[in-house]
Amino acid sequence: MKTMTCIEDLRQTARRRVPRAFFEYAEGGSYAEQTLNANRADLEAIKLRQRILVDVSNRSTQTTILGEPVSLPLALAPIGLCGMQHGDGEILACRAAQEANIPFCLSTMSICSIEDVAQAVDKPFWFQLYVMKDRGFVRALIERAIAAKCSALMLTVDLQVLGQRHRDIKNGMTVPPELRISNLIDIARKPSWALGIARAKRRTFGNLAGHIRGVENVNSLSYWIAGQFDETLSWKDVEWIAGIWPGKLILKGILDVEDARAAAKTGAAALVVSNHGGRQLDGAPSSISALPPIVDAVGSSIEILFDGGVRSGQDMMRAIALGARACLSGRAYIYGLGAGGQAGVARAIEIMRNELSVSMALTGVNSIDEIDGSVIVEM
Ligand SMILES: Cc1cc2nc3c(=O)[nH]c(=O)nc-3n(C[C@H](O)[C@H](O)[C@H](O)COP(=O)(O)O)c2cc1C
Repeated sequence: MKTMTCIEDLRQTARRRVPRAFFEYAEGGSYAEQTLNANRADLEAIKLRQRILVDVSNRSTQTTILGEPVSLPLALAPIGLCGMQHGDGEILACRAAQEANIPFCLSTMSICSIEDVAQAVDKPFWFQLYVMKDRGFVRALIERAIAAKCSALMLTVDLQVLGQRHRDIKNGMTVPPELRISNLIDIARKPSWALGIARAKRRTFGNLAGHIRGVENVNSLSYWIAGQFDETLSWKDVEWIAGIWPGKLILKGILDVEDARAAAKTGAAALVVSNHGGRQLDGAPSSISALPPIVDAVGSSIEILFDGGVRSGQDMMRAIALGARACLSGRAYIYGLGAGGQAGVARAIEIMRNELSVSMALTGVNSIDEIDGSVIVEM
């Protein structure tokens, strides 16, 4: 892993090790991928301000997220089908996050279930909730997260309908993978991936399989999921969920100031400025361009987390400078997982930690609290 010097190295390795359908599932965005590309382009356009001759020998990347101490202003974002990038992927990623002392968020659409992960790790993790039409199932899912002692509930609010990802359709991306000749040949060329999956605890949606009446096999599960995203989802449902969940609530997928104001009124502990990594509304603004107005509007009343395009410690610095408390990492850690399991995720975190620390030194700051608009060059 030492020769993996940047997230791009992990990406290239993951591309070689993970079957194409799953690699492209992680890589891709919706429709023309304009928002996906804007996330990266707009971050890269922000120039950091080089400062000299400041004593930076005592600098630290430590901070807090939701009041809890963390070693780095970073959390691992909820990622569906993590366990298809690498066998037992969710458990491995959670362990890497906990060793690095940063939060891990398990997706509703994970392969390992809430209970699998809870049994395999020592500390609490966050759980991400998609609201399904079957509210009995949603309530039961929240109750399972409570029983597993999850330390925060992240409610994703930007997926009442699914943005289409052309690549997934072209690749026959299903769980388990569609048995096309091209997929079988591809899997045969990725033996270490196949072995990891064969040895893994599960190969389908762990939070759903066996928990829905009348849905016994993978095919009926796929139908159930496709029909379950709820177009009626509204602010009333946020209230309902807040009434069931006793802990900290995070609203993920906010890109608009008006929505941010409404989110701040719900009593949620945090919101995530996010366009779902460019996988939902194509043509929506980049996450980083949406961040400053939201910080201005509600930054004093709710914690603001950020995701979308973060691939380096420099990107983390840019988002924090524009007012984010911390970033979520999606693809960056998924590339690490595909490249090398737990060690790959640990490497992804380490790469971003080192980059952030060096960037702090070269912009002349010693603490995360000191990172503000002054580290950015006004253009
Ligand atoms: C492969 C993949 C699966 C995802 N699955 C989920 C999910 O299940 N729930 C969710 O709230 N967000 C999901 N997201 C969005 C991420 O949580 C996050 O918002 C996004 O990846 C951030 O952008 P980045 O990948 O550029 O870092 C997914 C993203 C990717 C790339």
